[in-house]
Amino acid sequence: MSKVEVNEHTRSIPIRFKDLEYQAKQLLEEKVFVYAESGAGNEETLNDNRKAFNRWKITPRFLKDVSEVTLNTMINGQAIAAPIFLAPVGMQGIAHPDGELASAKAAASQGIPFVSSTVSSYSLEDIANASDNGNRWFQLYYPNDVKLATSFVKRAEAAGYGAIVITVDMPFIGNRERDRSNDYSPFLQGSGIANYAVDPVFQQYMQAKQNPNIVEEMLPYFYRPALQWEDIDHIRKAVDLPIYLKGILHPDDAEQAVNHGIDGIVVSNHGGRQLDGCIASLDALPFIKDRVKDKLPILLDSGVRSGPDIVKALALGADAILLGRPYLYGLTIAGEAGVEQVLHNIIHDLKTTLALSGITSIQEVNGSLVQKIDK
Ligand SMILES: Cc1cc2nc3c(=O)[nH]c(=O)nc-3n(C[C@H](O)[C@H](O)[C@H](O)COP(=O)(O)O)c2cc1C
Repeated sequence: MSKVEVNEHTRSIPIRFKDLEYQAKQLLEEKVFVYAESGAGNEETLNDNRKAFNRWKITPRFLKDVSEVTLNTMINGQAIAAPIFLAPVGMQGIAHPDGELASAKAAASQGIPFVSSTVSSYSLEDIANASDNGNRWFQLYYPNDVKLATSFVKRAEAAGYGAIVITVDMPFIGNRERDRSNDYSPFLQGSGIANYAVDPVFQQYMQAKQNPNIVEEMLPYFYRPALQWEDIDHIRKAVDLPIYLKGILHPDDAEQAVNHGIDGIVVSNHGGRQLDGCIASLDALPFIKDRVKDKLPILLDSGVRSGPDIVKALALGADAILLGRPYLYGLTIAGEAGVEQVLHNIIHDLKTTLALSGITSIQEVNGSLVQKIDK
């Protein structure tokens, strides 16, 4: 695995999540930082995502040779350097002018897949060009128009994206009370229009309406309250790429995903940004794993901050995790170098955690490594 050189520039990027968060807070306008940091409603789920990790503890084994620890793994036949993805985070231009171009390049340099959001600040084609050799997946916020949805995924396929990740937990936007108090939405300010602006189907709609305001025209399409399984089946038929569903929390939905021939799921509550009061992703994971067993890969996000967190998720049934806010803060602080450093640090932490647990490869991690404690 390639290593990030720690040079003068990267040395100033904090190692600890709390410090990353603090520095990002100093750099961003208050309402922009709140948009990134906050969760929906009372932030019960946002906080519970962290508490869930604290309820599980690793029981290490010793007197094993851990001089060589490998992190590489396979997801649906795709080799990745470590069981880590960069989660789809929209509108990264609000954090740093290089936005997704920087994040995608940093991910590629570490052999980590980058999941690119529908509402990115750069078009999916520009992101692909910037991160030539990288493994990129495209996240679909299913527009309220099947023709437009089809156009997006076909563009992603043509641009070399390796999978489509359909986010299913946003039939409506969550009740983000802190953003509402600040009267702030980067979306309404036009930070996430790049994929729409260059889309041939959307351009036809714009021309027909003769309205030069892209944001206004996007609004009715942005999410699809009536999204159902038949819409997912439609996308499966439209492209030859593996299809993942992001936002699965109920074992019944996971089972239905298997029945619909879905290639993988992301157990996620959107980092606590959608349904407040819903189950922490890590708490949902063992029930989902128990139901679908090894019938499809299971990824997990929401609250992952460290190597031990990753090991706990893997022990409870995940094949890999996605990181959200940590890399967004790295991007804010130092663009591409910041994201690289965040990845470097978590990879280092994962390696150390495995070695100190008596484990030498990702494939060895299993449920016997963790125990739930009463808290
Ligand atoms: C600022 C921000 C923007 C996000 N944008 C998207 C998005 O465009 N699409 C999506 O599916 N999820 C989006 N998410 C959710 C992430 O993909 C992921 O589920 C979440 O950040 C993981 O939790 P973590 O931040 O605690 O690691 C966003 C999250 C944040 C913090």
